Amino acid sequence: MGRLPMHGISRTAEIDLSGEWQFRLLPHGAWSTAQVPSLWTMHEETDRPHYTNVPMPFDEVPPQVPDDNPTGVYRRSVELSPQAGRRTILHVGAAEGLLRVSANGQDLGTSTDSHLAAEFDITDAVRAGSNEIQLTVEKWSAASYLEDQDHWWQSGLSRPVFLYTVPEVRLADLSVVADYDPEAKCGALDVQVFTTGLDHLPESGWTVRIGVLGQTRTTSVTPRLIAPTLPTPADARSVRPEPMLPAGFSGLLGLKAAGAPLEEPMRQAAEMIGRYAHPTERPGTAAFALDDLVVQPWSAEIPHLEELSVELVAPDGGVADSTTVRIGFRRVRIEGRDLLVNGERVLIQGVNRHDVDPRTGRVLSRETMLAELSLLKRFNVNAIRTSHYPNDPYLLDLADELGFYVVDEADIEAHAFMATIPHDPRYLPEFLERVSRMVLRDRNHPSVIIWSLGNESGYGANHDAAAAWVRRFDPTRPVQYEGAIATDWHGGHGASDIVCPMYPHLDALKAFDGDRPVILCEYGYSQGNSAGGLADYWELFETLPGLQGGFVWGFKDHGLDPDGDGRYRYGGDFGDEPNDGPILLYGLVFPDLTPKPAFYEARGLFSPVRVAAEGDTLTIRNRQFFADLSAYELELRVETQHGPGPSRTVPAPAVAPRGEARLPIPDDLLKHIADALALTLTVRTRYDSRWAPAGTEIAVHQVTYPRKPWAPPYGIARNDEISHPLLLIPPRLSLWRALTDNDRAFSLDNRFVRSGFFDLTPIDGGYRTAWGEEVVHRRTIRQVGDADWVLSENVKLPEDTEDGLRVGMEFILVEGFEHARWTGLGPWENYPDRRSSALLGVWESMIDELAVPYIVPTENGGRGEVTALELSGPAGTMRTAHTPLHMTVGRHTVAQLEAADHWWKLPPSSVTVVHLDVAHRGVGMAHLGPDTRPEFRLTATEYAWEWRLILSTETR
Ligand code: GAL
Repeated sequence: MGRLPMHGISRTAEIDLSGEWQFRLLPHGAWSTAQVPSLWTMHEETDRPHYTNVPMPFDEVPPQVPDDNPTGVYRRSVELSPQAGRRTILHVGAAEGLLRVSANGQDLGTSTDSHLAAEFDITDAVRAGSNEIQLTVEKWSAASYLEDQDHWWQSGLSRPVFLYTVPEVRLADLSVVADYDPEAKCGALDVQVFTTGLDHLPESGWTVRIGVLGQTRTTSVTPRLIAPTLPTPADARSVRPEPMLPAGFSGLLGLKAAGAPLEEPMRQAAEMIGRYAHPTERPGTAAFALDDLVVQPWSAEIPHLEELSVELVAPDGGVADSTTVRIGFRRVRIEGRDLLVNGERVLIQGVNRHDVDPRTGRVLSRETMLAELSLLKRFNVNAIRTSHYPNDPYLLDLADELGFYVVDEADIEAHAFMATIPHDPRYLPEFLERVSRMVLRDRNHPSVIIWSLGNESGYGANHDAAAAWVRRFDPTRPVQYEGAIATDWHGGHGASDIVCPMYPHLDALKAFDGDRPVILCEYGYSQGNSAGGLADYWELFETLPGLQGGFVWGFKDHGLDPDGDGRYRYGGDFGDEPNDGPILLYGLVFPDLTPKPAFYEARGLFSPVRVAAEGDTLTIRNRQFFADLSAYELELRVETQHGPGPSRTVPAPAVAPRGEARLPIPDDLLKHIADALALTLTVRTRYDSRWAPAGTEIAVHQVTYPRKPWAPPYGIARNDEISHPLLLIPPRLSLWRALTDNDRAFSLDNRFVRSGFFDLTPIDGGYRTAWGEEVVHRRTIRQVGDADWVLSENVKLPEDTEDGLRVGMEFILVEGFEHARWTGLGPWENYPDRRSSALLGVWESMIDELAVPYIVPTENGGRGEVTALELSGPAGTMRTAHTPLHMTVGRHTVAQLEAADHWWKLPPSSVTVVHLDVAHRGVGMAHLGPDTRPEFRLTATEYAWEWRLILSTETR
């Protein structure tokens, strides 16, 4: 009895137990029904989602469990017709909480780890006919302290539950090392097949047959040496380490101290080792080694998979059990400061991905997983860190197939008690279990290139023990753990083969001279309107030795929408106290997978292609390490002063990995270049794939040309102010933007609030700030024609101004403007420090679509380098012209954006609010990471510029 050992064999559901179960939430709930899988916190009024980052949501210390412990009881009957000689296994994909399993009233065991499956052999508890299965999930347990990740606390069953049957004598586990030698360009296979159930049968005559690459091999099953009983700490020292007994353990068990407190955890650790290394049943193994194989290697760029079939053959020749596994030949090595995949120092263009879905909380359908990974592929992401727990095994199947490098992370985050838990031997067995069960489950996936011991749990002996186990058990992959290197990038060798810091500053990266690869486990913080400076990191990754990329924090916002009304909730919205508010809204995509502008920035940086121009020739560089560019086609388009000009689509030139090729600009385009703003190169897929149909745009790059300087036209000076029926509020000075999460960062020391620029009171010759300081604003106006003016602005800020958010003009147009057209950077939102992928051209959009609906409203929708803007609609037309300005056009004022705490709470508005700024601050990542660079801050105190405004009530 008890939970079965973890294995890497994927078994097919024979009886799917998804659907309606009887459900009761103790202590007070009555019986009703619930869907499985689902989280009760998403539908039960008495126990709602609760968001905390660091603190535990209750006041206890490990391993105490709070008295108030909501417990969900799931019960259903299932018709079974057991077959002689077969065992029935219950698979619970993931239970958030402590799981207790019973069948027909008989207890079968318990399990913890909310993100790994638990399996139970229910054969002896069930009978032919109707049977009752009960799954009880206790929300809190001693293990909760290891699941203190920064996301919603939820409870229930989040992955599928099903039954399958296996023969008594069967395949128990499988280990496949599919190696690729990049120098000899050949593959080698090391297959170990573990069987179980042979105990009481004659040992001879059983064989295992494998089939792979058109070859078949057979070998006999040999029994493994086993210890007769489970080792105890006392006799652990006498247990001879076998190949499967991990290095770290013998030492640990040898440690067995006199003190009683260690007795129990040590016994458990020994028992666990016993389960893996010395199963109680007599295991049989069959080993295969195949060399010099002619194979195509696997990589994220070319994820070539082969199928390996495994059959357990009885002495009479019958196939007793069988399975197949998809394998990929590849080699992961660390050599000095380089992490090599198939000999290449690949760049990790990764994201941190959580299991999260706005409607279900954390229950993800296969369609959602495919949609997420397809989107990542289309944005040139090549790596995923499964922050901060193992994902559904299907996600790894997809990663193998679509091509991602995966950092597979164990479900360990002891954030609130990081000072004690990693040193606490009572938690040692859980550390070992969580890490080893993940490795046992996932070791055959080519996509998994690195094991991670978890997140933000301090650093202690429990980590070193887990790392030692992994290194011995799977020497083919490195281990990483951020906590090990957090305080010293030169340290932590006991638990990390990689220097994997979070949110490091650029100077620290530049200055670091270590002896291991540096791959950032988190960077590029994207909460709200953020991720300014992503390109600066990439400049370092592409040029400095030892730096190999990292994982953006993070992929998807955790906003929840349980009712499906489009009103995303964050911390506190469920009455959850204490909470960390909107800190979990840091996605490159919104909860519904709509990409945010920052994701387009990343897409360009991660593009397989770079382009440069010299005269009438383009240089196309292939950034990939294994693939040529034949999978893409390129569209070249001239951006004229009047809009998109002529274009041509050509297959990408043959460019070897990391190579370059020259591409002459076709003559029919060349003749338009003299007058052009830019030449745009759109990269599209050439063939259908599982993640995108042929013709999907995956990146757009540009070569830009010098712009003609703007000269204001002649006009007659006048000294009255501007008024016009289309102007609800005429142009006035604006120095404030609705603060972003980064603008509020602790490290920015409240400097913007201290400036007092959020409240300007008009006085003679300028304004008074909220703190009574004077801002001088001088304007001269020249009349060019009817409702056609040139405005010369001069602004002097108080002498002690150290920094600012914006300097520019704001005006509000009456209702009746719908459409925008501008010459400048677009089409998506961009800011001075987040525009390496933005494109110069003439862009059009509905005004309503210019805003970016960050769940917490802040400054949004900006576009830089704008030299002309035209807004039109039934009310009339407004046009501006100027040297490059930063524009923001939307429906809401700064004050309205600041007053609302959710986008969906913004008041309806149909006026048009226009900002044209001569200076606008970068957005940076100061909330967690570096502030915007000095050149994108507003440190000047005097600004002068001119602009032209033309209004007409005639409609176009
Ligand atoms: C990191 C942590 C993440 C998340 C992030 C803030 O320190 O690893 O889980 O909390 O900060 O969004």
